[in-house]
Amino acid sequence: MHLAVNLPLTVTVVAGLAAAVLIYFLFLLAKNEAVFVPLPQETIDSMLKMAEIRSDDVLYDLGSGDGRVLIAAARNYGIRAVGIERNRILCWLSKRAIARNSLESKVQVVNADFFDQDLSEATVVAVYPSQKINDRLESKLRKELKEGTRIISADHSFNFHEKDRRKTGHFWTHLYSFS
Ligand SMILES: C[S@@+](CC[C@H](N)C(=O)[O-])C[C@H]1O[C@@H](n2cnc3c(N)ncnc32)[C@H](O)[C@@H]1O
Repeated sequence: MHLAVNLPLTVTVVAGLAAAVLIYFLFLLAKNEAVFVPLPQETIDSMLKMAEIRSDDVLYDLGSGDGRVLIAAARNYGIRAVGIERNRILCWLSKRAIARNSLESKVQVVNADFFDQDLSEATVVAVYPSQKINDRLESKLRKELKEGTRIISADHSFNFHEKDRRKTGHFWTHLYSFS
């Protein structure tokens, strides 16, 4: 108690915030929810290369985090990209990054749960939430995706026919072509 009173206010506030963030992450982990873990840029680049993107593709990133997958897709391949992210702060940060890259006409971020969104427009789907979420997503993808849609999944797999699998750094990326 004495120590806390003597500590400068800023240190106490920062320590309090850090503890709150830690408790939040532990809470999400305890619920086995996917938290924001950004993929390395080299893995993002490899995922997009594996998908053999065409100019008329529309990429959906399910759990788009800070928007780097969307930005790489729009900037490097010129395609339209839609991110679905339930975390409001990450949505705000990704919209700022999209604006900094002048990609507002190509990239859209929806603040929502991807289980509640219609995914049928996608021709390429990127996912990196958790194995448990992939397992839940499978039936939705089967129902909604068009034939020929590619799914690129970082680190976790699906029970679809795997077309390719590559490793960058610590991450395996799986490519599925939907039929
Ligand atoms: C492991 S991060 C991946 C972030 C980004 N796609 C990347 O590759 O760097 C997973 C993201 O999915 C989001 N997420 C998890 N479940 C979700 C859901 N049901 N709907 C929307 N977003 C979700 C989390 O908030 C988190 O930002």
